[in-house]
Amino acid sequence: MGFESNGSASSNKPLKFLIYGRTGWIGGLLGGLCESQGIDFTYGSGRLENRSQLEADLNSVRPTHVFNAAGVTGRPNVDWCESHKVETIRTNVVGTLTLADLCREKGLVLINYATGCIFEYDDKHLLGSGIGFKEEDTPNFIGSFYSKTKAMVEELLKNYENVCTLRVRMPISSDLSNPRNFITKITRYDKVVDIPNSMTILDELLPISIEMAKRNLTGIWNFTNPGVVSHNEILEMYRDYIDPSFSWKNFTLEEQAKVIVAPRSNNELDASKLKGEFPELLSIKESLIKYVFKPNQKTSMS
Ligand SMILES: NC(=O)c1ccc[n+]([C@@H]2O[C@H](COP(=O)([O-])OP(=O)(O)OC[C@H]3O[C@@H](n4cnc5c(N)ncnc54)[C@H](OP(=O)(O)O)[C@@H]3O)[C@@H](O)[C@H]2O)c1
Repeated sequence: MGFESNGSASSNKPLKFLIYGRTGWIGGLLGGLCESQGIDFTYGSGRLENRSQLEADLNSVRPTHVFNAAGVTGRPNVDWCESHKVETIRTNVVGTLTLADLCREKGLVLINYATGCIFEYDDKHLLGSGIGFKEEDTPNFIGSFYSKTKAMVEELLKNYENVCTLRVRMPISSDLSNPRNFITKITRYDKVVDIPNSMTILDELLPISIEMAKRNLTGIWNFTNPGVVSHNEILEMYRDYIDPSFSWKNFTLEEQAKVIVAPRSNNELDASKLKGEFPELLSIKESLIKYVFKPNQKTSMS
């Protein structure tokens, strides 16, 4: 469903995006995409929790759409959030709500890169069943403080009719040297679990988020490629396309729990709503091959 935005492209105003998250992974990629598509954009300079700074950005940039790729994700990983709860709330809850509220006041669509790590397999969504969580399902994973703040803010943002919530999961890009890339992470771990999950191929999906802004789409969207892929399936592709000598060791969830602070979520999200809007959307395995492994292929397999 589209929002009647003041900055709407339908009013024939040229697109002008205001993007938060200049120094971040997703924010950086988004700016690069706007450049390559010739879309006028500016990075926001305000801190999300500072309403007057955000208002100054909006008044000076006068965007048609706002994108929020800013958020606290923790370094080196989300375990950081367990010991920095107030900082996590400040950005992920107070900041995100402040931005959404201001955008609503100004009649602007906010495309918000959120997370799908607020669900875990349960009795109604069993691992391997092919039954994924839908947009309207209530988050059932608050095992980490990071996920807890994201689930809380998603629930509140539902009330903002100008917000498009994109549930990103285990993002992957074609840049295999980026330590944030899920593939890069799991190839560098000493041991990995092996669980099927929904994932987001950024090379395919970030351009779709730009198209969603142009269509003024709002509401919650499972922002993943359809289907699931397991850690081992990805590592097998990595071995086949990139490094034939690559090998890895698995361990169990119980063993993993000993080397992390907060539990991690594993789930399948039902991507049929996104696929309905964008029928060309590839399944996770097709997208991995087309956007990540083929462009990086180093082996001579056909
Ligand atoms: N990467 C993942 O695995 C993943 C998965 C699912 C969802 N997401 C979500 O997608 C969003 C972007 O992720 P990412 O991986 O691109 O994150 P990232 O690389 O950690 O970048 C985060 C960005 O947010 C900015 N930021 C943090 N606090 C801020 C604040 N209070 N005000 C303004 N800017 C602030 C940072 O700028 P400074 O350096 O200036 O603070 C940085 O530019 C996040 O909300 C994240 O939760 C990420």
